[in-house]
Amino acid sequence: MPNGNLDDHLFSKWENGNGNGMGKKPLTWPQRKSIILDVAKGLAYLHYGVKPAIYHRDIKATNILLDADMRARVADFGLAKQSREGQSHLTTRVAGTHGYLAPEYALYGQLTEKSDVYSFGVVVLEIMCGRKALDLSSRSPGAFLITDWAWSMVKAGKIEEALDASLLKDEDSSNSNPKVIMERFLLVGILCAHVMVALRPTISDALKMLEGDVEVPAIPDRPVPLGHPSFFTDGNTFSISPALSGPQLHSGDMLR
Ligand SMILES: Nc1ncnc2c1ncn2[C@@H]1O[C@H](COP(=O)(O)OP(=O)(O)OP(=O)(O)O)[C@@H](O)[C@H]1O
Ligand SMILES: [Mg+2]
Repeated sequence: MPNGNLDDHLFSKWENGNGNGMGKKPLTWPQRKSIILDVAKGLAYLHYGVKPAIYHRDIKATNILLDADMRARVADFGLAKQSREGQSHLTTRVAGTHGYLAPEYALYGQLTEKSDVYSFGVVVLEIMCGRKALDLSSRSPGAFLITDWAWSMVKAGKIEEALDASLLKDEDSSNSNPKVIMERFLLVGILCAHVMVALRPTISDALKMLEGDVEVPAIPDRPVPLGHPSFFTDGNTFSISPALSGPQLHSGDMLR
């Protein structure tokens, strides 16, 4: 693919000329929007356009390739699995990439279409925030996990601060800054990457939300920020510090 992968465009250093390196410019908002919609449509095809459905299992920025027109293609079906008719989920040996794996799949090996939705949500957050899914070298307590961080920014009313700064620079004054739509995309990313399966939309519902055909529901509480230092297990129940409001989560809840 002439334009390589999404990860390079989001995270490779922007080299300042002298003929060295690829010299990638930050992706513009129209490019980011069309990449997100292309990936959502690609996944909707895998989940609903073919029978039996295909679960990709390795949706991440390096597996999204960009063609000459910067249209996105979902690539790398090395881990893809076909569902079986009438089966709600597969239980399978876990494969995939840290930072993009749905918790119920990582912990219990339970694979459904919603595992791909989770990874898609993480990619949406990377695109909208310009930050990597997971940073183990982060100086903040524990690791930096984009899902926890974006959720806490929204809950703190700092939604605009979560967006990639380059998105908010209005270089072209004739092009009004569509902040409302950017924020909607960010919220859909958070919803898709919710810890609890039942609160994640299907990819076709997520697509309708992105396109503005369906309202984005209020972002539900996230009972267990998985990267939070106060996360600990107590028998069969995950408990959390009372400072973080939210219902207690029983381990089985993640599977519903
Ligand atoms: N057809 C292609 N055109 C351009 N770049 C490609 C193409 N196929 C793969 N790549 C790039 O080649 C690199 C290696 O791909 P590879 O799939 O082996 O590793 P990965 O995507 O980082 O991890 P994973 O093995 O989990 O998919 C990646 O950066 C990928 O984006
Ligand atoms: Mg790959």
